[in-house]
Amino acid sequence: MLLPITAKKTNDDVIEIGGCKLTELRNVFKTPLYIIDIETIKKQCNEYLESFNYGDIQSEIIYASKAFCTVAMCQLIKQLGLSIDVSTGGELFIALRSGFEPEKIYFHGNNKSEDEIKFALDYKVGTFIVDNFDELETLNQLAYQRNIKQKIMLRITPGIKAHTHKYIQTGAIESKFGFGLYGGYAHEAVNKALSFENIELIGIHAHIGSQIFNIEVYDKLIDTMISFISEINNKEKITIDKINIGGGLGIKYTSEDKPATIKQLSEVVYKAIKKYSEKHKVSINKVYLEPGRSIIGNAGVTLYEVGNIKYIPQLKNYIAIDGGISDNIRPVLYQAKYEAWIANRSYYIDSIRDGDVIVNEGYEIKDNNKNNNKNYNNNSEKNSDKNNKEEGSLINYSIVGKHCESGDVIIEDILLPEVKKGDLILVGSTGAYCYSMSSNYNGQPKNAVVAVENGKCWLWVERQSYEDLVSKDKKLYEYEFCKHDSLFDEKNVY
Ligand code: LLP
Repeated sequence: MLLPITAKKTNDDVIEIGGCKLTELRNVFKTPLYIIDIETIKKQCNEYLESFNYGDIQSEIIYASKAFCTVAMCQLIKQLGLSIDVSTGGELFIALRSGFEPEKIYFHGNNKSEDEIKFALDYKVGTFIVDNFDELETLNQLAYQRNIKQKIMLRITPGIKAHTHKYIQTGAIESKFGFGLYGGYAHEAVNKALSFENIELIGIHAHIGSQIFNIEVYDKLIDTMISFISEINNKEKITIDKINIGGGLGIKYTSEDKPATIKQLSEVVYKAIKKYSEKHKVSINKVYLEPGRSIIGNAGVTLYEVGNIKYIPQLKNYIAIDGGISDNIRPVLYQAKYEAWIANRSYYIDSIRDGDVIVNEGYEIKDNNKNNNKNYNNNSEKNSDKNNKEEGSLINYSIVGKHCESGDVIIEDILLPEVKKGDLILVGSTGAYCYSMSSNYNGQPKNAVVAVENGKCWLWVERQSYEDLVSKDKKLYEYEFCKHDSLFDEKNVY
């Protein structure tokens, strides 16, 4: 699926999601707009819960909130019966504000501050995923002061490279995350954790990366983790029997992408646990997963309005939209690819089924490569030329944002029928890591987020106003700061 599972084309050539026409959503909420399909999230969560319901091995699905974290999203995740992972005090605050049960919160992060640790302890967060020695010591001390024994998992660096973008690999030995197996740090961390009175070590964690297509890498990961557990169980006379294998399952961003399914991942994980428990003579009774992207990625889309269109004959055709890197930094950061459609004039689309778009005969728009233009009128030679806008021919466009950066490109090459000013451009698969990585660059207020289901829509996040942009600003010489003042007031933060 490239689009949410409820995406359809209506008889009047408009794309609808969750039973809501995108033209109507535009009229109510304006653009740029993030749209979230609740049904797709439910489907993905249920698929995780069902596929990992093994019977003889327990499982817990922990939503990685960094992918998309709002109060309503956390409430939905809680309602669906998942746990949640937070990686900063801010995400923790959002999860708590949503009413999430603290014992179902897993606290990540490679540089938790003392204040963040206190915050989590005071709110009785269930499990810390400890990343480093400093954190382990501080946590033990702060737990001692509170007279509690804090459950933890130790994050190890397994020395496994996932085949994904360098920036989103996390398992290699030189990674900034976790205790290295290589060098014996992981083992040392286990010893330390066991020696601490106020720490209870319940399991071992590892996360090797994100947007992973080759799921066989989880087999290797599980082998490495169980082998390590066998070693520490034997040496330290303990019985660690829980592994947390992180997140990472890839999703479809373009029609060329062929990600594995949740079911396939569950099979690889099950087989690996069985095989390596036997090989290393360890009993594993629980596996935890932390999916983020594969839950929310395809459930979200972004709707933009087309402003200026610029044709540079024989070279480039630009469609400028009313957002850009401020609401989707992924193309410039990771060379991420996306697909897009004209949402208000989708006459060139035959149908949309299970989130996949079937384009009319001759309108095949699956190839974003400008050297491979397809054209249903057979006149593709010059179709990057403005003068070749015959009825029905496809034009090779670049969809660019409104920011002062040449890199502000959402899609470099895409074939679309002629686009007009005021058209609505729908970009698919933007549910994960777009809203959560959005910024106010160039003073662009953040998009609203609207959720849809069964023909109804709910505002999840209000669009920022210009006033919001200056709400924390002080005027020149307005706010005199005395040395003894503290800007950090814990009550204001939590
Ligand atoms: N667990 C841990 C410890 C993680 O660090 C992450 C993601 C996840 C789980 C969830 O992984 P997922 O299932 O979403 O792949 N901003 C990048 C992705 C960074 C992922 C960071 N960690 C992007 O836009 O592609």
